[in-house]
Amino acid sequence: MQTKGRFITFEGTEGVGKSTQLENAANTLDQLGVEFIVTREPGGTPMAEKIRELLLAPREEPVHETTELLLMFAARAQHLYNCILPALDRGKWVLCDRFTDATFAYQGGGRGVPKERIALLEALVQGDVKPDHVILLDAPVETGMARARQRGELDRFEQEAQDFFQRIRDTYLERATALPSKYHVVNAALPLEQVSASVSALLAALVKMPAPA
Ligand code: TMP
Repeated sequence: MQTKGRFITFEGTEGVGKSTQLENAANTLDQLGVEFIVTREPGGTPMAEKIRELLLAPREEPVHETTELLLMFAARAQHLYNCILPALDRGKWVLCDRFTDATFAYQGGGRGVPKERIALLEALVQGDVKPDHVILLDAPVETGMARARQRGELDRFEQEAQDFFQRIRDTYLERATALPSKYHVVNAALPLEQVSASVSALLAALVKMPAPA
């Protein structure tokens, strides 16, 4: 089936099952005959993946919130212009593991960077490019952190305290409530089959919807 490219992002706090649901989403689009790519942030190109390594590595030197913010957007510029936009231009759907909503949630809600400052960088880097739809996998912070801890060593973000992730979850939910036509909140605390069924149904509905102008 020929469709116009759509930009779909997956968001949520740590351990909510994004990777599993990205795989599930990819299988669903395959079955529906939609052409797509799967990518992630920070990362998605060789240079942006290097920036990811810089951002995630635990280090003794304190990382200033402005450094973190600018590195996120530096990686994003590289990813957007070298990967996401070319794919959308070719008519492919883009399934992206996190995007700028994560910056509002983590650097904004988590670190306390004013959202106006993030919005300035968003406009500078992205112009008016934003995801068409955001799938927000939502679960209580403790549920996700328990899963993240089971995965092994924690990265620089995962080492933060529970209240940091609570502010992140709250920010995601606030953004979703403000724009319900774009944000699709999925209860990720339910059994996996139910979460997967919700995500698949959502994607099937999006495929049927006319592409945004
Ligand atoms: P991941 O663990 O989902 O792959 O994401 C890597 C980490 O980067 C995760 O802890 C969230 C964080 N992050 C931000 O803080 N801001 C951002 O803009 C993005 C894209 C990710």
